Amino acid sequence: EKGGYDYFMLKEIADQPQAVADTLLGRLSDRGEIVLDEVRLTDQDLRDADKVFIVACGTSYHAGMVAKYAIEHWTRIPCEVELASEFRYRDPILDRSTLVIVISQSGETMDTLMALRHAKEQKARVLAICNTNGSTIPRESDAVLYTHGGPEIAVASTKAFLTQLVACYLIGLHLAQIRGVMYADEVAAVVEKLQSTPDSLRTLLGQMEDVRALARDLKTASTVLFIGRHVGYPVALEGALKLKELAYMHAEGFAAGELKHGPISLIDEGTPVVCVVPSPAGRGVIRDKVVSNIQEVRARGARTIVIAEEGDDSVRAYADHLIPVPKTPTLLAPLMTTVPLQILACEIAAARGLDVDQPRNLAKSVTVE
Ligand code: F6R
Repeated sequence: EKGGYDYFMLKEIADQPQAVADTLLGRLSDRGEIVLDEVRLTDQDLRDADKVFIVACGTSYHAGMVAKYAIEHWTRIPCEVELASEFRYRDPILDRSTLVIVISQSGETMDTLMALRHAKEQKARVLAICNTNGSTIPRESDAVLYTHGGPEIAVASTKAFLTQLVACYLIGLHLAQIRGVMYADEVAAVVEKLQSTPDSLRTLLGQMEDVRALARDLKTASTVLFIGRHVGYPVALEGALKLKELAYMHAEGFAAGELKHGPISLIDEGTPVVCVVPSPAGRGVIRDKVVSNIQEVRARGARTIVIAEEGDDSVRAYADHLIPVPKTPTLLAPLMTTVPLQILACEIAAARGLDVDQPRNLAKSVTVE
């Protein structure tokens, strides 16, 4: 059942091109428009939304953080992301023109379910992104968009994360389309890029040998830091979460711009710092800022592991290890940049002799608050 892989997690990482393709399947019309037919909210409900909240836990929360950048950029609707365990206790301002998007792989996470119930009590519209047919969260939501990732067995979420990103992009584009913020040809251009990501993922997965070697090298590190900006920031958080949960190592993700406000003092001779570099196209300013952050940490002794778009050779000078990923538009880049971090965490855990699929103290679905 592990399909020849040592762990379910490795199989699920390898399944990602197919999972992404399956989640896109049937959702794009011949004219390149987004069709979300399982969504039982009317277009009018979606047009009326004047505020979006995204609520989730753990890895699903990181998908929500990425979604915020895409949804606000494409729709111009204010969008906030919140941890489900915090959401209802602070009495958020919700009404019938609020769209609450809950994201859950299992559909059974108690914190997320409680947040969803609170949102419904306050008359908000609730749209679930879920990987498990007929589970509690989609049943109680006004609408659902299923990710077609297939069952995820390993405790650490991988393919579910990538398919959640795809679902979020589809919802963002759909909202932009029906609200008239994006023209059909603009939507179609993004859709075309989304459709090419399974192929890019296959290419990327085929060139992970260096990452495996690096993992064996890092297995004794006492701490690993991750930095990124823009959509690279949630990717940094996700890389750190994976490493903590699988390898039981101290790992932390930061917004690269925050380093100078405190965390940079953690950096010592040889501290590994994984840096997620945005594409030089489109977001050139952000990329240049990340590159100067890399120089800053390196000047203080960090060993830099740089994830950057292939062909972006100017970062080579600052990278102790360079991990190239296929060229992808900025907002979609987490579909690529997350993958080496999944492999890194998985391989470090394996090198430390740990149970990759079932890390200690964790359960696949967390049904307590
Ligand atoms: C991390 C991980 C967890 C889950 C979180 C939410 O690898 O798997 O952080 O993402 O417990 O679970 P779902 O998405 O099922 O609500």
